[in-house]
Amino acid sequence: TVGNPANIFWHENPVGKAEREKLLNQQGCVVWITGLSGSGKSTLACSLGRELQSKGKLSYVLDGDNLRHGLNKNLGFSPESRTENIRRTGEVANLFADAGLICIASLISPYRKDRDACRALLPDKKFIEVFMNMPLQLCEDRDPKGLYKLAREGKIKAPHFVGFTGIDDPYEPPLNCEIEIQLKDGVVPTPHEMAGQVVSYMENEG
Ligand code: PPS
Repeated sequence: TVGNPANIFWHENPVGKAEREKLLNQQGCVVWITGLSGSGKSTLACSLGRELQSKGKLSYVLDGDNLRHGLNKNLGFSPESRTENIRRTGEVANLFADAGLICIASLISPYRKDRDACRALLPDKKFIEVFMNMPLQLCEDRDPKGLYKLAREGKIKAPHFVGFTGIDDPYEPPLNCEIEIQLKDGVVPTPHEMAGQVVSYMENEG
């Protein structure tokens, strides 16, 4: 913290969270999608957003790539930058959930402690962590942006000396996530199936 906390005061919102949620007929929460690059995070985020919309539920997608065009444009991929990227996004996601929205955050978020810090901002059950548990080989074979190829060639490191997640920077899988998306009989679930898995969980949890 840069400012002196003793000189900073909290202002209550004129409308309470319960009132906002009543107006929207839904409960605010965060669906946090984590996983390797190319594991299908954005595909699930889009599919889930559409599915919720069709059910009359207001959602908003926070996509890591998109946030790096604005809010997080001054951040790179060093461990410190990734931590700050997730911290900021977790704070924004929490605000969206407080506003009553279903906030779908889709970021690699490779470090467990950073995801856990985002979880800790929200009440119990309002942070739904979804792990895209796809094999590295599959993500690398897909390589939608050609970045794994660059990483294997050592071209991501230069000139910033950062690692690429899964290749030379770690991905720490969740230990206790709410939802895990996996291959079924060696086949990637369809976007509709993945979104259905998340929606079923949300419905079961009320
Ligand atoms: S993080 O680790 O959570 O801060 O990353 P995130 O904000 O989600 O951004 C990930 C996208 O940035 C591209 N990219 C990289 N990913 C991992 N490591 C390195 N060094 C890197 N450099 C660029 C990559 O396209 C990621 O997009 P997705 O959608 O995950 O494939």
